[in-house]
Amino acid sequence: MALRLVELTAENLGAAVRLPPAVGEPANVAPVVHSIAEAYVSPAAWPRVVVDGDEVVGFVMASWDPANEIAAFRAGVWRLNVAADAQGKGVGRFAVEQVAAEARRRGIDRITVLWEPGEDGPEGFYRRIGFEPTGEILFGEVVGAMAV
Ligand SMILES: CC(C)(COP(=O)(O)OP(=O)(O)OC[C@H]1O[C@@H](n2cnc3c(N)ncnc32)[C@H](O)[C@@H]1OP(=O)(O)O)[C@@H](O)C(=O)NCCC(=O)NCCS
Repeated sequence: MALRLVELTAENLGAAVRLPPAVGEPANVAPVVHSIAEAYVSPAAWPRVVVDGDEVVGFVMASWDPANEIAAFRAGVWRLNVAADAQGKGVGRFAVEQVAAEARRRGIDRITVLWEPGEDGPEGFYRRIGFEPTGEILFGEVVGAMAV
């Protein structure tokens, strides 16, 4: 795979919003179209597309909000969606590494993520790539943090 992180463009938008889950499908992450709408109204949002060559294989949205009163919302992974046929091939790890690299460029040394607890959620993935639960639960979700 030749993974790259690119900005959202008029050209890749269509493929990005076709990543799972579809609108209305039960899932533990929001549909990409919802995240992009949030990015339109949230200055903290940093949406990016993961491509393999010229194929869209993932979407990640970070949040950079250093003044947020809640520490878990100051810097981290807000959304992550990987194409069904690209899961388990390192796309998610790559996307989080790119968020970590952007954090370092911004002088930030810790990133967070929130995940829904449960066997079928992404907890195993986030722990595997280095996030550790902080012990906090926010809005019913587990807060994980990682030094970068
Ligand atoms: C969860 C998700 C983002 C992971 O991305 P991915 O590209 O499939 O994961 P990667 O291939 O980068 O996996 C990295 C490592 O985590 C491991 N891993 C992935 N999913 C895992 C899981 N559910 N439990 C335990 N380990 C997991 C992989 O085996 C791999 O380990 P390795 O380094 O030893 O090979 C992706 O599968 C996905 O989009 N799922 C549906 C939506 C979702 O749950 N999004 C996150 C909600 S915030």
